Amino acid sequence: MTQLEVTVLDKTFVPFISRETISARVEELGEAISKDYGDEPPLMIAILNGSFIFAADLFRALKINATISFVKLASYKGTTSTGSVITAIGLEEQLKDRHVIIVEDIIDTGKTLSAFLPEIHQRGPASVKIATFLTKPDALQYDVRADYTGFEIANRFVLGYGLDYDGFGRNLPDLYVLKG
Ligand code: XMP
Ligand code: MG
Repeated sequence: MTQLEVTVLDKTFVPFISRETISARVEELGEAISKDYGDEPPLMIAILNGSFIFAADLFRALKINATISFVKLASYKGTTSTGSVITAIGLEEQLKDRHVIIVEDIIDTGKTLSAFLPEIHQRGPASVKIATFLTKPDALQYDVRADYTGFEIANRFVLGYGLDYDGFGRNLPDLYVLKG
């Protein structure tokens, strides 16, 4: 059952999108992806930690042959004026000529993906698409557009279904939003 309020550390969250609504939408995305790729098995690359629950559900919603791999992004300060650099840990997969689908929990400003995408393109994939559980269109600052989006939401902090507040809340089956 959905909890009416959830308190994590100093913050209180209220229900936002139910597990039933999420599940129905993920099924739709799975069907759309299955239709688009047909007999060309895509390689899903899920970005840890936030996307692991969405990725697991989306992967099982695919009706076609597909593979999945996980990467963790580490950001460090570069020595140039471009500032922080993002590098992928665990991307041993051969991407050459593969149809890649990057799976994210949320696109907020778009900074993370705009920094990570060049690393994917460098490896010569046949195609690259983005699937994200959530987008916050009002927060977008970088030229990143998802091909498959679960929900467009307002620029508010959300929790649950893999998304966390200071590491907590990822195990909530429904999506919550900061109260007030
Ligand atoms: P950018 O700005 O790079 O941000 O697109 C993507 C990352 O920011 C985190 N993020 C959130 N995490 N609730 C969360 O739990 C939120 O509302 C939220 N907004 C952004 C998230 O880690 C995502 O990968
Ligand atoms: Mg995250």
